[in-house]
Amino acid sequence: MDSKTPKESLTILTDMVLPGETNALDNLFGGELLARMDRASSIAAGRHSRQIVVTASVNHVVFTKSVPVGSVLTVQAKVSRAFVSSMEIFVDVWIEDRKSGQKTKVNEGIYTFVAVNRAGTPIKVPSLIPETDLEKERFNGALRRKQLSLVLSNKMNPSNATELKALFK
Ligand SMILES: CC(C)(COP(=O)(O)OP(=O)(O)OC[C@H]1O[C@@H](n2cnc3c(N)ncnc32)[C@H](O)[C@@H]1OP(=O)(O)O)[C@@H](O)C(=O)NCCC(=O)NCCS
Repeated sequence: MDSKTPKESLTILTDMVLPGETNALDNLFGGELLARMDRASSIAAGRHSRQIVVTASVNHVVFTKSVPVGSVLTVQAKVSRAFVSSMEIFVDVWIEDRKSGQKTKVNEGIYTFVAVNRAGTPIKVPSLIPETDLEKERFNGALRRKQLSLVLSNKMNPSNATELKALFK
């Protein structure tokens, strides 16, 4: 199975924020943003693996800035590391100023997807070779984030989370 690079899974979704997608302050409802991020990361994981993929966990989402109604919102997702059957996807979210086009980052999230066969059994995915400095940084941190996610979901004993524990030494 050939390795792939992050740019091969790059997925960019740009859409407007409509009034029916907002909260009482006329800002984008958090669940709507999560749905867009989930869709973008699902496409990215599918592009990397060319298999059926399911969301295994949403590891980290930061709502840094609110997103007003009418905003043009861009959600960008890329695989940051592939393990055996699972893939970590980094999602970055921007809004752009209508007049200047200047982009402001409003949100980021880290998702884990797993490639499965039709029976829902996890299957192998290609490995990932990071290219840029940011891709390398995200790749290097992915194992400890995987271990943290597994510990939090009671799928790994904290004593086995060696990469994660090394952070505190
Ligand atoms: C995700 C799923 C396929 C994992 O199945 P499983 O029986 O736990 O399989 P495994 O234990 O072999 O785990 C498969 C991979 O997922 C990873 N994984 C499982 N749970 C994880 C979690 N919470 N965080 C990070 N990685 C996780 C495992 O580490 C393993 O990775 P690897 O093969 O790359 O080493 C299964 O839990 C599932 O189908 N969940 C429902 C998915 C779904 O419906 N999503 C949409 C929700 S709306």
